[in-house]
Parts: sequence; C-alpha cells; structure tokens
Amino acid sequence: MPGGGELMADELLRVDGLDAGYGPVQVLRGLGFTVDEGEIVVILGANGAGKTTTLRAVSGMLPASGSVRFKGQEVLGRRPDQLCSLGMAHVPQGRGTITDLTVDENLRLGAYTRKDHAEISADVASWYDTFPRLGERRDQAAGSMSGGEQQMLAIARALMSRPTLLLLDEPSLGLAPLVTKELFARIADINRERGTAVLVVEQNANLALSVAARGYVLETGQILTSGTAEELQNDDAVRQAYLGR
Ligand SMILES: Nc1ncnc2c1ncn2[C@@H]1O[C@H](COP(=O)(O)OP(=O)(O)OP(=O)(O)O)[C@@H](O)[C@H]1O
Ligand SMILES: [Mg+2]
Repeated sequence: MPGGGELMADELLRVDGLDAGYGPVQVLRGLGFTVDEGEIVVILGANGAGKTTTLRAVSGMLPASGSVRFKGQEVLGRRPDQLCSLGMAHVPQGRGTITDLTVDENLRLGAYTRKDHAEISADVASWYDTFPRLGERRDQAAGSMSGGEQQMLAIARALMSRPTLLLLDEPSLGLAPLVTKELFARIADINRERGTAVLVVEQNANLALSVAARGYVLETGQILTSGTAEELQNDDAVRQAYLGR
C-alpha cells in the first residue's frame, strides 16, 4: 500500500485515520482503506464490527474525524447531497426509497443531479428490464412493495445518478438467493460497462468476493486483514469466519 498520504493516480477514495461513533461510544478507530477508480472492493466483518458506520461516515451521514479524500479532494464534513453531486451514491442498509412515491418517481428522483433527460428515460427502462418486478409495479407506492422489491429499487435508484462510486450496505439483505445472484451480476456489468467503482459491505462473502478485486476485513472498527479477493478466499481465518468452509 502506498504510504505518505499521497493520492495515487488511479485512487478514487482514500480513507485515513477515520474515527467515528455514537455519543461516547467510539466505533471506528483510525480506519484506513482505499478504492481505486473502477474497482469493486468488499468490506467483510461480523455484526457490529462497524461496516455500516464506515459507509455512513464516508458518505457524510455521520460526523467523523480523520480524512476522506474523494477524487483528490478532502470531503470530510460535506453533506450527503454534496457528495452525491460529486459522484458518490450510498444505498443504506435495509432502506433507501421514498415510501410515498411510486417506483417510477423514485427512479427519476435518483437522477436529480442529471440533465440528460432522454438518457434518464432509457436508464429507467433498462432497470425495468433488469428487474421486471419493478416494471410491473412502476406506479405502485414504494412503501407498499416487499422488502426485496424495495431493496432492488433502492439500488437502482442510487445508480440512476450514474455515480463514480457506489456504496452498498448489505445489498443481499432480504433478497432470495437467485435474485441476489442476478443483482451481483448486474453490479459487475455496470462496473465493467461504465467503470463505476463499488464499495460493498456484504454478508454473502462468497458472492461479494467473486465480483470484487480486493477486500478488507473489519474487526471492532479497525482493518484486521486486507488483500486481493483471491488472497482472502484462500485465507484460512477468512474462510472459517466468513466463507463457511
Ligand atoms: N445509532 C446508534 N447509536 C448507538 N450505537 C450505535 C448506533 N448505530 C450503531 N451503533 C453501534 O455501533 C457498532 C457498529 O455498528 P454498525 O451498524 O456499524 O455495525 P455493522 O458492522 O454494520 O453490523 P451489521 O453486520 O449487524 O449490520 C455496534 O456496536 C452498534 O451497536
Ligand atoms: Mg450494518
């Protein structure tokens, strides 16, 4: 790993010495990691390790100290909407839709930073192809859809902003195994076709490592291990704790 805090040419996100918590409870302790342009990176960790807290601190939803550099700029302290305009989209764990709006309205709202109206409609149509359930329910209120349908919508909505970096918190939560597989295949397609970088927190470590280039293992707010997806897949401790084999 490069030292000295210099931003490398292809580095999209660099987190250094990140501290965050809730009131007196410190959760993240000097956390550091990077995501390169166009890279898929996974964060593994047990329940309560601080994965959600990490994504919230990076996307400006939770006050933090340390450094978060995105596209070469220090962005710690910026609001989530400012970061979204810069190209960072965050799908929070288990929610992320506006329940009173329809599926179609949610998707179009996801594109609020864009001006290319014809392309926006084409993107909406492509999501209805990917997730036919969303297309069938396009005029239904998001809040009346099933948990899995809302999860698909939340991810599609975040991608409607055509982000440079997508932060995904447990995208498989509440999804059937087959749908999860489809979703990861679609994420890999988008990564390949558009060069969208993805930082994903995921319990389904097997699937996440199958699409990721690199990963980090988080334990009590610190990075315990990091490596290429292949290294992590072959690491005995990682296998026992996260891969169930
Ligand atoms: N709003 C909050 N107020 C107080 N403590 C919180 C809050 N949110 C999270 N925590 C605590 O911070 C720690 C890290 O939580 P976090 O949600 O980041 O874990 P996680 O790794 O995402 O876990 P999971 O896999 O269960 O989603 C936990 O001990 C949790 O209880
Ligand atoms: Mg979490």
